Amino acid sequence: SWTTTNVVEEQVALIRAQVGDKRAICGLSGGVDSAVAAALVQKAIGAQLTCVYVDHGLMRKGESEQVEKDFVAATGVQLKVVDAEERFLTALAGVSDPEQKRKIIGREFIRVFEQAASEIVAEAGASGESVEFLVQGTLYPDVVESGGGTGTANIKSHHNVGGLPEDLQFQLVEPLRKLFKDEVRMVGAELGLPDEIVQRQPFPGPGLGIRIVGEVTKERLDLLREADAIARAELTAAGLDRSIWQCPVVLLADVRSVGVQGDGRTYGHPIVLRPVSSEDAMTADWSRVPYEVLAKISTRITNEVADVNRVVLDVTSKPPGTIEWE
Ligand code: XMP
Repeated sequence: SWTTTNVVEEQVALIRAQVGDKRAICGLSGGVDSAVAAALVQKAIGAQLTCVYVDHGLMRKGESEQVEKDFVAATGVQLKVVDAEERFLTALAGVSDPEQKRKIIGREFIRVFEQAASEIVAEAGASGESVEFLVQGTLYPDVVESGGGTGTANIKSHHNVGGLPEDLQFQLVEPLRKLFKDEVRMVGAELGLPDEIVQRQPFPGPGLGIRIVGEVTKERLDLLREADAIARAELTAAGLDRSIWQCPVVLLADVRSVGVQGDGRTYGHPIVLRPVSSEDAMTADWSRVPYEVLAKISTRITNEVADVNRVVLDVTSKPPGTIEWE
């Protein structure tokens, strides 16, 4: 029968059998999936695992600090932090196509992991060895939606499934591949991870890079980070954290509309709020967030974020819309 204890025991045995006495790395994204995958692998192989947190410059405000503090405090895992903002932004320059962005981000992640892997071996004074395994928090819905399931169309290349380069030097360890998100949360709790990690709303690996419709630039990221921080703060203050599955905040960077502020005409960008409720992210409904909360978010964003003069609400379910805009 399905119990979290059984899942943990079974996966620990499988991971040990797969990895043996070799080294593994696991990319932490700040999300639930990678955190639970890492905790599971750590339970199986202990210090043979090093987690790598790639700060690609596409994270939300305060997120890097949170990963560095919370996760290490909860698990005592060995963590390597890589500042790769410039590398990612350079690779993404001039690119607007969503699939293109996902592929580039997936590729750069792997390149950074490869570099981190050789540094980890060198730092351990283990020349001649290498890191052979890469742990990913791939879930069942990711597999299905990337076309890895049986007979399904490729909806999006989730960076941790369809977006990997062909010359990958690592073997993948994907202990969550058969699980849905609610099951992953239960497994995380079983492993002793705190609520702040286990109940965290999903956040995609490619980060804010797929929440800017148009080219990704530093200025646009900074602007979106501000708007996103306001939306998150107000939704949290309203006590909606748990009832909302997640709320992507999207910048329509290629769209401008006319507005008026003070005594001047503005020509700024719209911000889209996409609060959804869902069980497993395979389907979703738009959340009926109270008008007062929406009003507060809208007022604050247009007042506090320069160059944004309109806030719009996405009232599309999935299907036909996906949760993310790209
Ligand atoms: P969509 O937009 O396909 O999203 O309805 C479904 C869920 O998956 C998250 N998502 C991702 N997670 N890597 C991830 O780790 C990705 O490339 C990725 N793309 C989407 C999304 O936030 C939602 O929870």
